[in-house]
Parts: sequence; C-alpha cells; structure tokens
Amino acid sequence: MKNIKTIISYLKPYKKTIFLGVCCLIIVDGLQMIVPKIIQHIIDFMHLPDFSLMTIFKFSVLIIILAVAMSILRYLWRLLFFQNAYKIERKIRNDYYDHLQKLSSKFFQNHNTGKLMAYATNDLRAVRMLFGIGVVLAFDVILMFVATLSLMININFHLTIYAIIPMPIVIFIMIFFGRKLHHLFGKVQKTFATMSDSVQESISGIRVIKSFVREKAYKNRVGEIAFDLMKENLHLTKIWGMFFPAMFAIIGISLLLTLYFGGTKTILGEITIGEFVAFNSYLHMLIWPVIAIGWIVNLFQRGTASLNRIQKIMDEKPEIVDTKKVDKSIKKIDGKIEFRNLTFSYPDSKHIILNGISFSVNRGETLAIVGKTGEGKSTLIKLLTRINNPPENSIFIDNKDIYKVPLSILRKNIAVVTQDIFLFSTSIEENIKFGKSEVSGKEIVNVTELAHFQHEITEFSQKIKSVIGEKGVSLSGGQKQRLAMARALIKNAPILILDDAFSSVDTQTENIILENLQKHNKNKTTLIIAHRISTMQHADKIIVLDKGKIVEKGNHEKLLKSGGLYYDIYQKQRLKEELKI
Ligand SMILES: Nc1ncnc2c1ncn2[C@@H]1O[C@H](COP(=O)(O)OP(=O)(O)OP(=O)(O)O)[C@@H](O)[C@H]1O
Ligand SMILES: [Mg+2]
Repeated sequence: MKNIKTIISYLKPYKKTIFLGVCCLIIVDGLQMIVPKIIQHIIDFMHLPDFSLMTIFKFSVLIIILAVAMSILRYLWRLLFFQNAYKIERKIRNDYYDHLQKLSSKFFQNHNTGKLMAYATNDLRAVRMLFGIGVVLAFDVILMFVATLSLMININFHLTIYAIIPMPIVIFIMIFFGRKLHHLFGKVQKTFATMSDSVQESISGIRVIKSFVREKAYKNRVGEIAFDLMKENLHLTKIWGMFFPAMFAIIGISLLLTLYFGGTKTILGEITIGEFVAFNSYLHMLIWPVIAIGWIVNLFQRGTASLNRIQKIMDEKPEIVDTKKVDKSIKKIDGKIEFRNLTFSYPDSKHIILNGISFSVNRGETLAIVGKTGEGKSTLIKLLTRINNPPENSIFIDNKDIYKVPLSILRKNIAVVTQDIFLFSTSIEENIKFGKSEVSGKEIVNVTELAHFQHEITEFSQKIKSVIGEKGVSLSGGQKQRLAMARALIKNAPILILDDAFSSVDTQTENIILENLQKHNKNKTTLIIAHRISTMQHADKIIVLDKGKIVEKGNHEKLLKSGGLYYDIYQKQRLKEELKI
C-alpha cells in the first residue's frame, strides 16, 4: 500500500504526459481491434455478387492506413512513457544522493558502501523499468484484456467461455512463479551488493592487501561470492525459463478448444467463417496481455522490492540537523569557543570518553590540546564541528550555545585539517578549491605558501594542475597534510583546527608553517592537537587530557614549572632528541 502511494507521488508531476501517453495507447488498442473486424467483413462478403477486387483493394488501403497510424502512435507513447521513466529515475537518484549527504557518519559506519552503490545503480534500474515499461504495460494489458474479451463475447458468448477455460490455470502459474521469482530476485540483488562491496574494498585496499600478501585470499573471497551470484542467477534463469513454456502450453490448449468448438459452430452455421477468423485473431490478441501479466508482475515485484530498499534508506532520519533552538539570525562567528563541564560518551557505548571538560579560548588565541592516544582529542573536535552531537549547554560559540548556531554557519566558519585526510582524485588545485566556490589564483598561491607547499608544487610536471592518485602524482604523507592545510586555510574561517596535522611533517617545516600561521592568522582562533611539544610550545593556552579529564591547564612555561604530565612528556621528547644527536 505504501508502495503504491510512493509510486503515485513520483508519477504525479507527469500526469499530463501520462494522460497523453494513455490516450495514444487507447487509440492504438482501439485501432488494433478494428483490423480483425475488417478481415471478418472481407471474408463474409466475398461470396456476395457485388464483391470485387476493388473492395479488397479499398479494405487493404484502410488496413495500411491503420498500420501507419498505429506505428506513429506507438512511437509517441513509448517516447512519452520512457522519457518520464528517465526523469523519475533522475529525481529518485537526486533525492537519494541528497539524503545520503544529510546522514551522519554513524550511518555510514553501519552501512557498507557497496550496498549503497548497488541501490543507486542496480535497484534504481529496476525502479526505472517499473515506472517506464511497467506502468505502460499495466495500462495496456487491462485495456487489451477488457476490449478483446468484450469483442469475443460479442461474436459468441459460449465460444469465449471455452476459450478462456485454461486462463485460471495461467493465473495460478503466474502467482506461483511470481512469488518464486520475487524471492530469487531479492537473493540475487543481495549477493550482487555483497560482491560489489568486496570488489570495491579489495580495490581501495589494494596496497594493504599487497603488503600483507593477501591477494590470493581476496581473490578467493571475491571468486566465492561471484560463484554464489552465478548459482543464484542460474537458478533464477531456470525458473524464468520454465515460466514461458508453461504459459504457452496452457495457451495452446486454449487455441485447441477454440479450433474444435469454433469449427463446430461454424459448420453448424452458428457463427460465420468471417466471425470465426476474427475470433481467432482476438484470441491471439488476448494471449499478449495474459503473457504480459507475468512480465508486469515481475517488473512490479523487482521494482517495488528495489523501491523498498531505497525507501528504507530514505526513511533514515538525519541525526545531525538544526534543532528548535537554532537562531537563524546568526550569520557569522566571531571566534570565541567555550566548553562548560562537557561529559560525553558515544551513543551505543557506556564508556565515558570526555568527563567534565571546561576551557575557553578567546578570538585570536591559540589553544593546544595534548594527551595520550585514544584520550578523546579528535572526539572533542567532532563535537565542536557537530559531526557528533554534544550535550546541550556544554559548548558555547561566541557565548551562545552551539545549538543556536545554524549548522551550515558553524561548519562554514570552522576550517579543519582532520587527522585522517581524504583527498579527491582530481588536481591539486581542485582539492584546494574544494572548501570555497570562488577563489583567485593569487589566493591559492597564498595558502600553498602558508602551508609551505608551494615550492614542491612547482616541481610537479603539471604544477598545480597535477592530478592526485590514479595516473597522477602520488603525494607523500607530509605533502598530503600540507595540501589539506591549504584546503582548510582557503576557507579563511575565523576558527582553524589542526588535528595532528604535523605528524608526517618534519620539525623544521612545522616551525615554518607555525610561524606563517602566527603572522597571517592573528585574528583567528586556532586549536592545535599535537603529540610533539615543539608544535604547541608557543600556544597561548595548553590543556592536557588524561583519562577523559583535563589534568593540566596553562602555557608552556607554567606547565613546565608545575612538573606534571606535560613536563614528563617534554623531558622524554627532549631526551629522544638528544639521543638522536
Ligand atoms: N564513532 C565512535 N564510536 C564509538 N567510539 C568511538 C568512536 N570514535 C572514537 N571512539 C572512541 O573514543 C575514544 C577517543 O577517540 P579519539 O579519536 O577522540 O582519540 P584521540 O585522542 O584523537 O586519539 P589519537 O591521538 O590516537 O588520535 C577511543 O577510545 C575510541 O575508540
Ligand atoms: Mg585523534
């Protein structure tokens, strides 16, 4: 029922063209019904004295005209319906993609990419078939069925009854096969999704697979799934293959009954020869809708099963949205950040990651966050950018609860270099421009210089136009980090966050970048997460996280004096440096 509603809602905008298409269809079907009638008349009038070759010629011309008219109209309805189907497919694909963009990272953790891709390709194709050929056939079949049956009854009621005796068996076969096919089709779709997922994973993880010498294991894994897919498809083909012969066998019985009873009636003079011939023509016309019903059932089952899968994703509620608290009048952010007694654990987990976190950073200040791995530093950033939702009244931006700031404004005004960097396989320039729609060449040079990346770019053969990844340049870890930094800097946001952004950069380069930032980012609030003391020693404030709590707060000198955890880290790192020398 819900399916029908969804189907109708997608068809609604196209009601005019659908109406036009249906009109063409009705006319074609109507004209089709006339042809046997003409033949009936030719046969029945043949023995009359005034019948001449001229009459046959006239009727033949009529049949030709009808055939041409039918061809044109058939072309028209096909065009109208198929165009609609492609438009609807595009609409669903856009809706689906838009929706995916709104969903939280948690959703993507729980759904694998292969399946989501299969929905957008394979399933959507099945949906298009449903909206295109499926809808047309449904109309056509009903129309043809009713029309031919009425005309058959009009010739002879009893003969019609004999002719359609086998039809209930056809319906039974249809239901039986329909259910089986539906089930098998679902299985095939599922396996296909699993396969595309494995293939995708084995391609994107090829470096790891190679370095662990796991090529064979992965090949076997994909091979096994491909084998399952083949087996399921073969099974489907077997059942599908049985479907038509069974159908034709039953239809054969119907033709046989007509021949016997119709022949008898003609001999007895109950019907004319012309009528007998016309009746046979109509019976043949009835075969089409009966067979088509099977196809339609299949198209609808495939289409609705696919639509269901897509619908299920569409029903997923985006978790991270603007709440009722949002203040739409907020258009920009000044840059003050405050955490007030924030305690957080991830949904579905009892483990408290952050416990009673309080600190504040004023506009233009730099705050460094230090702590052991897994302490919750990145989590802190995820809460500040609302990749995960923080508790209410625990994070304040410009003295306003973070929920008051519209999500789009919040994210536009925070530039982040995330710990795991994702770059698109386009040019370096495109990657940098990603954070902003309109940028000048000068701005790009400016940010690459700030990120101390400019001189390396000039060494690439295509310079800034060099494509990253496949068939393009391969960037080193440090180059990736600096590219990500340039991408963040071009946003020119009042808040800049660097989450472990120097981990692959040597200390010398790091110092240059930090100095650049100090000079050019004076008014910007900067949050730096780092493991090296050298990265954070010039920060205005430093907080030290341990077991989910802030254990130390202050600047470099103060923390060194207090001799706590920060001092320990500092000593250890200094010792390491000295040993290296
Ligand atoms: N999406 C998530 N769901 C549940 N737990 C998570 C999730 N993301 C991170 N965690 C857990 O939260 C804790 C803190 O992770 P986080 O990434 O914030 O650490 P971190 O301080 O940034 O560590 P590192 O220095 O290694 O980057 C870890 O124990 C991690 O397992
Ligand atoms: Mg981290």
